[in-house]
Amino acid sequence: MSSKKKATGVQSAVESSFATTPEDPKRRRLLVTGASVAGGAGAVALLLPMLGSMSPSARAKAAGAPVEADISKLAPGQMMTVEWRGKPVWIVNRTEEALASLRSDLGKLSDPDSEVEQQPAYATNDVRSIKPNLFVVVGICTHLGCSPTYRPEIAPPDLGSDWAGGFFCPCHGSKFDMAGRVYSGVPAPTNLEVPPYQFLSDDLIKVGEDSGAAA
Ligand code: FES
Repeated sequence: MSSKKKATGVQSAVESSFATTPEDPKRRRLLVTGASVAGGAGAVALLLPMLGSMSPSARAKAAGAPVEADISKLAPGQMMTVEWRGKPVWIVNRTEEALASLRSDLGKLSDPDSEVEQQPAYATNDVRSIKPNLFVVVGICTHLGCSPTYRPEIAPPDLGSDWAGGFFCPCHGSKFDMAGRVYSGVPAPTNLEVPPYQFLSDDLIKVGEDSGAAA
């Protein structure tokens, strides 16, 4: 609140100086520089306590450190979200039906074989994952960055009778199947991105680091 007041004060001083000496460009530059420095110092003063208040783990997370996800309670059909590098990463426990849907309608997909490098080598397969049922993917649309919605149900009224479950982006209508593969004819140009990850145990996934180990 005080910084806002300060900024307003600086702004008023500059405006008032402009009003009294508009014909003096040197003085005007000096005043603007002074105002910028004052504003920058204020911003840093605000930022430092904020950074200082972050825990070491929060600072590491903000910098892109890997995150661990406990999937022990993730039932078939459920999805959970963890944050990695400021992005949502989804972990989906795909059902047998969802896995079966990945083998149908391949002709409707833009890149069914994941030829575009949107996944690590160990997820370049027909299910785009290390373990078939557990799908790990960045929840950001490859069109303009909206976050799609998880729509695992079959043929819901709003998505049509041929919807086999997947992810739907409400921003411009891009559709992805249950492996994040994009359908043809939608704005999104590529499949959803699979981040690096590894299994630390059956119940624990580390997202953001694979150490070259697939599982
Ligand atoms: S951002 Fe998803 S369709 Fe445009």
